[in-house]
Amino acid sequence: MKLVIPSSHSIAYNFKYYFSFLVRGGKKEADKDKADKKQMMASSKGHNSGLRRLLFLLMIVVTSLVVFYRPSISDIKSSPYFLPSSWQSASTTIPPEIQTLIPNERAMAIKQLKYAAKLETKFAPNPNWGGRDHGREDYKYHSENELRKLAVCIATDTCRQNQTSVIILGHIFNHFHLYEGYMGGEGIWTASLVETLTKWGYTILHARDDWVYMWYLYNQIPGMVKGIIAWRTGQFGTFEDQMKTGRRQHGIPAWQFFVYNYFPDHYTSIVGDAWNMHSEFGYSHEQRNFTFIPYVVEPATTPPYIPAVQRPNQVYILAKFVRYFYNGAQPAWEDRGIFLRAKQILEKEFPGFEFVVGCRDDRNGDQQKQNPMELPAGIRNLGQMDKVEFERQLANSRVMLGIGWPTLSPSPHVALSLGIPFISPFSVHGWSDLEDPETWASSQHHTLKTLTEPYVYHVLRGNETQFIDAIRKALSTPIEPFILPLMTRDHHEKQVNKWLNTDWKAKAAVILENRKNGRETENGNEIGEFAL
Ligand SMILES: *[C@@H]1O[C@H](CO)[C@@H](O)[C@H](O)[C@H]1NC(C)=O
Ligand SMILES: *[C@@H]1O[C@H](CO)[C@@H](O)[C@H](O)[C@H]1NC(C)=O
Ligand SMILES: *[C@@H]1O[C@H](CO)[C@@H](O)[C@H](O)[C@H]1NC(C)=O
Repeated sequence: MKLVIPSSHSIAYNFKYYFSFLVRGGKKEADKDKADKKQMMASSKGHNSGLRRLLFLLMIVVTSLVVFYRPSISDIKSSPYFLPSSWQSASTTIPPEIQTLIPNERAMAIKQLKYAAKLETKFAPNPNWGGRDHGREDYKYHSENELRKLAVCIATDTCRQNQTSVIILGHIFNHFHLYEGYMGGEGIWTASLVETLTKWGYTILHARDDWVYMWYLYNQIPGMVKGIIAWRTGQFGTFEDQMKTGRRQHGIPAWQFFVYNYFPDHYTSIVGDAWNMHSEFGYSHEQRNFTFIPYVVEPATTPPYIPAVQRPNQVYILAKFVRYFYNGAQPAWEDRGIFLRAKQILEKEFPGFEFVVGCRDDRNGDQQKQNPMELPAGIRNLGQMDKVEFERQLANSRVMLGIGWPTLSPSPHVALSLGIPFISPFSVHGWSDLEDPETWASSQHHTLKTLTEPYVYHVLRGNETQFIDAIRKALSTPIEPFILPLMTRDHHEKQVNKWLNTDWKAKAAVILENRKNGRETENGNEIGEFAL
C-alpha cells in the first residue's frame, strides 16, 4: 500500500477524524465534531488579547513539538498499524488453522483477528435471525462477515497475501455442500477447492445460487473479484439478467463468470470453452479447452491400508440406492439373477466370496408401496454408511463393481487409491471399435477409460460371461494403491493456480474481437457477444 503523506498536521487531523468516525459511529458524530470546532473558534473571538497571545504561543509550542517528533515517512510505511493497538482485543483465541500458516501470513492473520474481534462484538453471531419464516440468510451472513474482515485488513494494512482476491461461490451444489454437508461429486469438489483457496488465504464469498445477490456483492468490490463459480440460472434470477452489457454497465462481466458442471464437455459459457469448469476430465483424443479442476484423491490414511491378500473375497457394489438395480436407472445387468448365479460359481473358487453393498430405498412411501424394490438375491446389504464407515468397508474389499449408475463418481478413484480394481460396464454402437474407448456408446466412468486391466476392467453391459470373468481376474490379480495423476493434490493445486493466475480479461478480449470480425474460435452452444 502506498501512502501519500502531505504533513504531520493533516495526518493527525485525519486520524482523529477517522477515529471519531469509527469509534463513535459514523457521519453524525463527525459532523458534530466539526460543529463543536466552529463554535469554539467563534467564541474564541470574544476572548481578550492576552489569552489569545497565550493560545497563539501554545499553538507554536505544540506545532514545533509535533514537527520535532514527526516520524519519518519510512517509519510510518513499515508500521502495519493504522488503528491504535488498544483496538486489538488481547483475549482473542487463535484458531488452529492460523497456527499452521507460514510466519508472515500468521503474523498478519493474528493482528487482523485481534482487530476484527473488537469489531465482531458489535455484530450478532447467529445468522439464523428469521428461522424458517424468514428464509435462509446464512450465505449472506458469511459473505458480509468476510467483507468486514476485508475492510478491517485493508484499514489496518494486515491483509494476507491473497486476501484481497475474492472468489464468489454461487453454484447451488457449492451451497448444498457448505450448508447441508452434501458430499456427492460436486460436494467433494467444493471441499477440495475451498480447502486450497483457504490454505492460500483467498477470500471466499458465498452466494447460494442467488444471481441478484451476486450482482450486489460484485458491485461492492468489482476490482477485487477474481472469479464467480456458478450456473447460468438459479432460484433467484439468472446470469443473463445480471450480465454486463453496453446498456447495463454495472452488470457482471461475462469473462468473470465460470460455468461449473461436475461433468466434462458441457459448453454453456457465452464467452468461450475455458469458461466452462469441470471436476472430471472425461476422455477424448482431441485436446479440449475447458477448465479442468479435479477434486483431490488422497492416499488413504484412515483406515490403515490392508494389503489385498489379507482382505476377504468381498466385492463392493457401487450403488447408494436400491433403485439403481432397477429399470428406471438403466442398470448394466437388467437380469437381477446374475448376482446369485455369479456368487454360486465364484464362492467355489474364492472361499467366503460375497457381494456387499451399502444401499437403501430413497423413494417415498407411496412409491415404495406401488413398486416394491428389493436388493437382488446374493448381495449382503451393509446399509447406509457415513464416509468413514464406507471407506472402512471399501478398504476391506478386493474389487469394486459398477452396475451402470452413478456415472463418473468419485468412488472408483477412491477404490483405486485403496488398491481396489474397478469393474466398469460400457456399451457400444454397431460401428464402435472395442479397442478405442472414444467410439464406445457409454461407460460408467469416462475418465477411467484411460486405464485398463489390472486397474480397470471394462465389461460389456449385460454380458454375463465378461461379468464373471472380470470378477475372477480382479480377485486373483491384486494391485498396488493407485491415484490417477490427473486427480492428485499436486495436479489439483496446479490447476487452481493456473485458473487464478490467468488473465481472463485479455483472453476474452481476443475471443470477442475475433467474434466481432466473424472469426469463431470457441465451440460453445451459447457463445455470443458480451461487454468486457
Ligand atoms: C497465494 O496464491 C498463490 C496462487 O495464486 C499461491 O501459490 C501462494 O502460495 C498463495 N500465497 C500464500 C501465502 O499462501
Ligand atoms: C484448444 O486450443 C488449441 C489452442 O488454442 C486449439 O488449437 C484447439 O483447436 C482447441 N481445441 C478445441 C476443441 O477447440
Ligand atoms: C459376451 O462376451 C463374450 C466374451 O467376450 C463373447 O464371446 C460373447 O459373444 C458376448 N456375448 C454377447 C451377447 O455379446
